[in-house]
Order: sequence, then structure tokens, then C-alpha cells
Amino acid sequence: MDKFIVQGGKRLRGEVEISGAKNSCLPILAAALLGEGESVIENVPNLRDISTMVKLLRSLGARVTQNNGSVSIRPTNALVPLAPYKLVSTMRASVCVLGPLLGRLGEAEVSLPGGCVIGARPIDLHLKGFEALGAKITIEHGYVKAKAASLRGSEIYLGGSFGSSVLATGNVMMAAVLAKGETLIENAACEPEVVDLANFLVRMGAKIEGHGSHLIRIQGVKKLRGARYQVISDRIEAGTYLVAGAVTHGDVTVKNVTPEHNNALYDKLMQTGAVITKGKNTVRIQVKKPLKPVDLTTLPYPGFPTDLQAQLMALMTTASGISVITEKIYPDRFMHVPELNRMGARIFLEGSSAIVTGVKKLSGAHVMASDLRASAALVLAGLVAEGRTDIHRVYHLDRGYEQVEEKLSRLGATVWREKE
Ligand code: UD1
Repeated sequence: MDKFIVQGGKRLRGEVEISGAKNSCLPILAAALLGEGESVIENVPNLRDISTMVKLLRSLGARVTQNNGSVSIRPTNALVPLAPYKLVSTMRASVCVLGPLLGRLGEAEVSLPGGCVIGARPIDLHLKGFEALGAKITIEHGYVKAKAASLRGSEIYLGGSFGSSVLATGNVMMAAVLAKGETLIENAACEPEVVDLANFLVRMGAKIEGHGSHLIRIQGVKKLRGARYQVISDRIEAGTYLVAGAVTHGDVTVKNVTPEHNNALYDKLMQTGAVITKGKNTVRIQVKKPLKPVDLTTLPYPGFPTDLQAQLMALMTTASGISVITEKIYPDRFMHVPELNRMGARIFLEGSSAIVTGVKKLSGAHVMASDLRASAALVLAGLVAEGRTDIHRVYHLDRGYEQVEEKLSRLGATVWREKE
């Protein structure tokens, strides 16, 4: 297992190229199962989660080849509707093969993903959507089995206790594109990754309207073709590098991004005193003054993303005052708090809120990465801490950040990887 070492204290400066969006790629690769021919997906990052999805698609009977950021998927005539525990347990997002398998084959058997460190993470909304389309759902031996002689379009309300669901919206959309008649998904997730998936499905011949709003309208078609598609860039990776610029009081430009995908983040960064300059495909951050504290609440898009909560908290640890960070998507997503406190941060948890009192400095320490975004927060804290920070279990970071040490080094950080 690798660990990641950060020698803190360098101001980051320069430009960083942002990779394709992991959370777009995962359902889009799964959606390629719906096509009658080959699909080629471009701008795919080289990440552990993507390799897991490729393995899963191969085990389902698709021919998959990878070449320099593009992935070709050719579903064969012998697709197998079974996603085994071994693969689903390593990546929750494997559950997004349920919709395409059900749509294409009329049946799917997928291991239940279970909880993870950031909370319970149920899939009841996915199942509610499939049932509304006419599928019979049973749960046996830890597997969800979905079966339907034919899927029929329906009106489906997809809101849960925590609002809309990104992957449930995607999953139900992928099943509905081949259903008979019209499907309306109400309280659909509006995230850019949902829009990206819908755009790919449209390229394959699906009839979808309203993606990007809370009401998605789908007219079922008889079949879909394979398509070539370029995914959007990763707004969470871009956001993480902007916070890296902010926390080190630096000057960082993220390139190859869609600037409007991160407006909630810029709003908060500007409140800290950072200067944000948007270009056509770039965003620059400059910090010249001491950081001011900000309060924030995570919400579905276009609200502040939960996937940037840990990084913003790392930023607030050295702001001059008190910030309150409230988590409304995953109320338990605070595994980074005790680790940041080991580095000298002052954070108290009160229910689903974290009260962060800024300190003058953090000090490097041995810390443990617990999940993907928590790992990113620890790297950010390490960049500004005095001395050396050893981040253990860095494999979490490799699930979602491509070439992280190379990208940070090019910006002037002192970071490297070592075998434990
Ligand atoms: C996706 C992202 C993840 C991000 C999350 C929220 C991918 C691969 N992952 O995960 O990085 O943190 O969106 O932006 O795209 N919920 C239910 N029932 C369900 C489904 C979800 O109650 O059937 C709840 C969840 O527990 C959570 C909330 O709804 O509280 C939102 O989760 P959801 O949008 O579904 O997250 P994912 O799509 O799994």
C-alpha cells in the first residue's frame, strides 16, 4: 500500500490541466451497454474506479479496450446480467449497471452495495424507479434482482429524505430510454454529470428532454446505437485544485474546465477574500490577504457540493475566525475531522455541522485517509502545515484524482509517494 508525503509551506503557482469527470464516466461507460454497436468514450481519466468499471463491463460480457484516455465498449450478444459482490463491494457506483441491464435484457442481478464510511447510502430510490417502470424487484442473498417482461413508461417521483439522487436519476433514465411510451422523472437530480449522461444517451438515439432541470421527460425508443462521446471535465478535481491555490495563498489556474459548473464554490471562495477570474475554459484563483471564515451548507446542485465539503473545511482550518459547515447530503461525512484535528485544527462536531475555529498554523503529522474526498482534504492541509505530513491509505485518493502528485508538483508543491 502507498502513502503520500507532503512537505508543507510552498505557495502553489501555475496552471493545471483538469481530467475528465469520474462521476460522468462511470454511468456513461455503463450506458454503453445499451447500444447495438461500439461506443467510444473520450476524456476518460486513468483512475482506479474507472478500472473497476472496465472490469465489471468485461465480466458482464462487453468487449472493452482502453487507449490513452479513450475507452471503447462493444456489448456482445452474450451479455450476462450479473454484477458480482467482488466488484460491487469495491465501488458503490457499480450499481449503475442495474438500469442498462434491465433496459437491454429485461433482467439484472446486482450485489447490494451496502454502506460505506460516509454513511448508509441506500438504493431505495433506484428500486422505486424500476418498479414504477414495471420491474419486479426482489432481494435475495445480498443481491437485488430486477426482472421485467417489458418496461413501460411511467410518472416517477424520485425525491428522498435528502433530496434528489444523482445515480438513481441516471439509473432510471438508462432503464426508461428503451421502455414503451413516456417516462417523467420528477425531482430529478440536476448535476452536470446527469446532464452529461443524458447527452450521451441522446447521441445514442434516445429521446430525452429537460435534463438539467428537476423534470426529465423520456420517450422510449426501440433500440439505441453505439456512439462516440467526450465527457465533461471533473468539477470536483477542479475545485480541489482551486482550494489548493487558496490554502497556500497562491495563484492557480485550472484549465480545460466548464467554469459555470462550480459557481457555488466560487461564491464561497470569494467570501474568504480570494479573487476568482473566469475565462472561457479556465478559472484562476489568487489569494493575497488572510482568509476570512465562511459558513456553508452542502446541497444538491447547483448548491455547494458534498464532494467539496472536506476540502473547504481544510481551507477553513487556517481562516481568521469561526466557520460553520453543515452537511445536508451525508450527515455523517466527517471522517476527516479527527485527522485534521491531529494536525492542530480546532473543529467540533455538533450533529451534522462542524464548527471550525481557524488556527494560526497546522503542523504536519501522520494521518489516515478514510475516503476519497477526506484524503484530498488531508493533502490540502498538508500543503499548508508546518513540516511533513504522511497520509496513509492513499489508495482512496487514487480512486478519484489522476496523477495527483505530478499535478501538485508542477504547481510547486513538495509531494511524493512511498511504499508503506
Ligand atoms: C453521487 C456521486 C457522489 C456524490 C453524490 C452526491 C457518483 C458516482 N457519485 O453519488 O460522489 O457525493 O452523488 O452528490 O456520481 N439516497 C437515498 N436513496 C437512494 C439514493 C440516495 O436515500 O436510493 C440518499 C443518499 O444516501 C444521500 C442522498 O440521497 O443522502 C444523495 O445521494 P446520491 O445523489 O444518490 O449519491 P450517489 O448518486 O450515490
